Amino acid sequence: MEPRETGPVASLPVADDPPEALVAGLPAVRLGAAALSDVELLAVGAYFPLRGFVSAVDHAAVVETACLADGSPFGLPIALAASPAEASAASRRGACALVGQDGRVYGRLDEVEAYTIAPAPTAAALYGTADPAHPGVARFLSQGPVRLSGRVTLLRRPPLPQRRHVLDPAEVRRLAGERGWRTVVAFQTRNPVHRAHEYIQKVALELVDGLLLHPLVGETREEDLPDGARMRAYRALLDHYYPPDRVLLAAYPAAMRYAGPREALLHARARRNYGCTHFIVGRDHAGVGGYYAPDAAQRLVAAHADRLGITVLAFSPAFYCRRCGQMATERTCPHPTGDHLALSGTEVRRRLRAGEALPPEFTRPEVAAALADALAAPASR
Ligand code: ADX
Repeated sequence: MEPRETGPVASLPVADDPPEALVAGLPAVRLGAAALSDVELLAVGAYFPLRGFVSAVDHAAVVETACLADGSPFGLPIALAASPAEASAASRRGACALVGQDGRVYGRLDEVEAYTIAPAPTAAALYGTADPAHPGVARFLSQGPVRLSGRVTLLRRPPLPQRRHVLDPAEVRRLAGERGWRTVVAFQTRNPVHRAHEYIQKVALELVDGLLLHPLVGETREEDLPDGARMRAYRALLDHYYPPDRVLLAAYPAAMRYAGPREALLHARARRNYGCTHFIVGRDHAGVGGYYAPDAAQRLVAAHADRLGITVLAFSPAFYCRRCGQMATERTCPHPTGDHLALSGTEVRRRLRAGEALPPEFTRPEVAAALADALAAPASR
């Protein structure tokens, strides 16, 4: 695989240098799980060219143009929300400790500057709505108007139930290189794997050397299925239906924003940093409810294609067609929708929680069994 530029690799402390000692005397800023995952992703180069939380100038540029001030596409501003008191202490000192809700130190922010944003119009620009019923908007509005910029140092990996499955961009590049893959397609997902996912991944695999299956395992909504269940389902699918030497399963430690098109742009950029050459954007990528048109993410990503540095493979909604006897899309199937089987994510979750069967045309039996097992044992998360 072609080497591509990436950011700095996480600067973790040496064993006898505890994180607390490296921030002694600095004011603290408290971070939730989503912000902690941003610290990690910045530090490992997943958000390159960013090496820290964005400045006011980059923030404004991203909100307005979906690009950083230098013109590189970047769908969402990676900024650190803070309380006014935290922000004034941190900016006066020029540095602060990044502390989790558990009171532990996870990182350090230097060259700190504080600024304010206008939450409702910013949410409207990024999410296409300022409706507080939208889960991403609700979280965004709850963060208030104050943001911090600054260079990030990761001092400790944030806790994540799926930590053992996380690979840094440098590790993914290395493994892909060892396998001799010159082209790699990344697949972002937050939902239990179903046959439409499998179909578009395999169509992509007909064209490229390797597949990075990259389920997101950071913070998601309550309604989304636990990441432990999703990882188990992926394992079951891979074990039975994929050539092992052409797939790499790794967890992506980001939080979900549900920002549809803007988040698709961020997802694509991040996967470029993991060394991927191609990225799948299907139906309603990173969407939620009915907030985005099914192809809205594809349109935004296409508008930035020339500077994105990764080739987007856009897929129409896929379904199982009873008359074709296989997976298809409107591009390949002539039959009416009455012949098509496509379950919504909501319906899948409902059936799983109610212990009802998922049809094999929708979900492979091995996957359905893995999901049912994982949900029956909540400790699997
Ligand atoms: S997402 O929030 O991570 O986008 P999900 O896990 O449902 O959610 O989707 C993963 C990827 O598969 C996205 O690119 C999405 O657009 C695509 N996708 C999901 N279902 C379908 C489908 N039935 N047809 C085509 N693409 C799909």
